[in-house]
Amino acid sequence: MRGMEKKLKILTYGCQMNVADSERMAGLLKKIGYTLTDDAAAADLILINTCCVRATAEDKIFGQIGRFKSLKREKPSLILGVAGCMAQKEGENLIKRAPHVDFVLGTGQNSEVARVVESLEFERKHFVDTSNVSGKISSQNIFPLRSGKVSTFVPIMYGCNNFCTYCIVPYVRGRERSRKPEEIFAEINQATAEGFKEITLLGQNVNSYSGGMSFAELLTAVDKIHGVERLRFMTSHPKDLSDELIAAIAGGKNICEHIHLPVQYGSDKILKRMNRVYTVEKYLKLIEKIRAAIPAVSLTTDLIVGFPGETEEDFQETLEFIKAVEFDAAFTFIYSKRSGTPAATFENQIDDETKHRRLEELMKVQNEISLAKNVALKNSVVEVLVEGASKTDANIFTGRTRTNKLILFEHGNEQAGELVNVKITQAQTWLLKGKIKRTVQG
Ligand code: SAH
Ligand code: SF4
Ligand code: F3S
Repeated sequence: MRGMEKKLKILTYGCQMNVADSERMAGLLKKIGYTLTDDAAAADLILINTCCVRATAEDKIFGQIGRFKSLKREKPSLILGVAGCMAQKEGENLIKRAPHVDFVLGTGQNSEVARVVESLEFERKHFVDTSNVSGKISSQNIFPLRSGKVSTFVPIMYGCNNFCTYCIVPYVRGRERSRKPEEIFAEINQATAEGFKEITLLGQNVNSYSGGMSFAELLTAVDKIHGVERLRFMTSHPKDLSDELIAAIAGGKNICEHIHLPVQYGSDKILKRMNRVYTVEKYLKLIEKIRAAIPAVSLTTDLIVGFPGETEEDFQETLEFIKAVEFDAAFTFIYSKRSGTPAATFENQIDDETKHRRLEELMKVQNEISLAKNVALKNSVVEVLVEGASKTDANIFTGRTRTNKLILFEHGNEQAGELVNVKITQAQTWLLKGKIKRTVQG
């Protein structure tokens, strides 16, 4: 089939790391003749890049895999592959449950995707490989097929060593491995040459970067790369967000004033049972330090309700905690039992009704805070990186502030990728609206 036009449809679930992995796999598959399509029915190869962080993600993905069964019946030449975290976790089980899946590729095998697909083009049989989960990072030249035009992700490390008791990620992503700085710089140069302006450095826990320099040093070095007009990173674990990093952000040129700092919970008892290794007091002190050094900083977080053993008292403590911190935004989750993790065997699992009630209450409190924070920005002028026309109205453009807030504005002659000044005229919980002031020079 080499040389013939072949179509690839990729479905990506889960976090930014999966987005980056999908772009890498698309790049490798391009080399063997696959071009992307949005239309699954037109595809010769469908690749589902999966997440298993919560049961809801897995259920959705299983539903989607099921829906491809009829497509496969109509077009037996179609190759259907499952990659990513759920593939790593389920392995052979996936083929047992859904025999119309041709191959299952664990997270350590992404760089093998083209080889596997070529062998299946040649001879069709089930293929499963979930070995090597903590394997060496492939040092081959990677040319990701990046989605978007303005903003892109660059992984700097893979895996996680933290073993929070609720979390499946360390099991499906393996131990921490860092990429070498030269490789990261080369990839960023590649991305800026393609026209990308905003780079987000990715890792499950970027502060434990250990590729031969500290994360703060890496960030400072990337900040100096020509063409990087905005620099972001995620995720930071509160236990090792260093003073050095705070100083690097404060002293940076294009390092954006936004830190995503998942706290997960607001009571010491639960934090301890989650194995988060910090206390509420330590977290609050850290926030104080960050705000003193970077006054314009926006802080976002992740929170889990319904962790086993959570009492009404613990929950009220968390509400008080988020009122005290005033996060700009929070991603709130209901605890999902992941078999194989310690918390799955903890006593006093919380019933669904209580979990949902607490989630709603938590969201209500946080939404009020998010709205108040945004309202306080009204009439101020912010730097916005233009992303392009909004999906619903070609006259409205979308972009993000340095603090990572979504903003909509009426456009003039701006182009995607330009930095513009926008005056904020309206504030909502999840977005801002504004009017262009003038183009930022330089
Ligand atoms: N490495 C990152 C992201 C991990 S997954 C970090 O440590 O922050 C993203 C979020 O999913 C986590 O921050 C946590 O809030 C949530 N999460 C992880 N496991 C979960 C589970 N079993 N149930 C509910 N939420 C979970
Ligand atoms: Fe999961 Fe904790 Fe690692 Fe984040 S730090 S990926 S929540 S184990
Ligand atoms: Fe999901 Fe894997 Fe990311 S479990 S959140 S896709 S690391």
